[in-house]
Amino acid sequence: MVGVPTLILLLCAANGVLLSNSYWKPTWPAYKVPVVLPQSTLTLDKPHFDAKPKLEVLSSCGPACHKRSPLPTYEEVKDYLSYETLYANGSRTETEVGIYILSSGSGNGGGTQSRSRTKRQIYGYDSRFSIFGKDFLLNYPFSTSVKLSTGCTGTLVAEKHVLTAAHCIHDGKSYVKGAQKLRVGFLRPKLKDGSKGANITSSMMPEKMKFQWIRVKRTHVPKGWIKGNANDIGMDYDYALLELKKPHKRKFMKIGVSPPARQLPGGRIHFSGYDNDRPGNLVYRFCDVKDETYDLLYQQCDAQPGASGSGVYVRMWKRQQNKWERKIIGIFSGHQWVDLNGSPQDFNVAVRITPLKYAQICYWIKGNYLDCREG
Ligand SMILES: *[C@@H]1O[C@H](CO)[C@@H](O)[C@H](O)[C@H]1NC(C)=O
Ligand SMILES: *[C@@H]1O[C@H](CO)[C@@H](O)[C@H](O)[C@H]1NC(C)=O
Repeated sequence: MVGVPTLILLLCAANGVLLSNSYWKPTWPAYKVPVVLPQSTLTLDKPHFDAKPKLEVLSSCGPACHKRSPLPTYEEVKDYLSYETLYANGSRTETEVGIYILSSGSGNGGGTQSRSRTKRQIYGYDSRFSIFGKDFLLNYPFSTSVKLSTGCTGTLVAEKHVLTAAHCIHDGKSYVKGAQKLRVGFLRPKLKDGSKGANITSSMMPEKMKFQWIRVKRTHVPKGWIKGNANDIGMDYDYALLELKKPHKRKFMKIGVSPPARQLPGGRIHFSGYDNDRPGNLVYRFCDVKDETYDLLYQQCDAQPGASGSGVYVRMWKRQQNKWERKIIGIFSGHQWVDLNGSPQDFNVAVRITPLKYAQICYWIKGNYLDCREG
């Protein structure tokens, strides 16, 4: 049985290793990550695929409310990190997990979590950029953005894996229509008949692109999403991992533990997605993080529903390898309306990759915990 102090240590594991400001470059902290391991798996009934993909999440709990809510207990966290796996043949399993801390913590974790008090602001003018030209679209980092057949965006995070939002697959009660035959679309240049060897030299011109689709073999969704509903804690667990039937052969972007907003270069995040209002375009944007809780980042990046599931990334210095590296530190969940005593306010919300979520997603990708010890 794990006691409350251990849990606090676990939730704050991120705090033990924060670097002081002695490096002039924004540097990736070396987080020690707990271990999340499957304990038992049971087969569930085949699901109904009857939910409509709902791209806006309603919640009465905004940042202030989230900061007030109590820490989950160890048993609750274990339950949230347990997960369902959906297979291409429509069968479904549920896996319970255990959480372990292998290294001894430094114990200075409790209560030092940073609390940004920045005032929220009204969204400015539309500050998104459509990305045109195959030289950009087919190159890193934009090439890591893929489209889901259910309408969302995903990001390539390993040879065969795509990270996205859970609500693109499951509405909290049921799988969405289309989750059973889920496919992932990759932008490729469109070659017209007879135009083989066409001379495409200019990257300034919009070029015809089309999606090439790969089927999804299996999908993991945490129970924190399935059990909660979006009105409660649900949004904290709005992420899912898809495994493709075959490798995509593109460069991918690794996931990393989300540093506190004040450590992000310029306090900014970036993401690219297939926003509904610009069909066929990949849309890139960056913006300041306005507020954060343990599990969520609040920002006012302009975004439309199709962008949900996009990987939120930053670029920081990787000291061991002496190079800059981009990593996915969150998943864009979507627009959230918060009812503050009868006056609705809106935010765009991203789910942070916490040390525990890192451990879970990394295990899904690698199939072992030894490769997941550092976030
Ligand atoms: C569906 O696929 C999974 C994984 O490949 C397999 O374990 C399971 O037995 C299959 N179920 C049916 C009903 O074919
Ligand atoms: C493409 O066009 C450029 C300049 O317009 C020319 O120099 C080049 O030889 C052409 N390449 C092919 C394969 O036609």
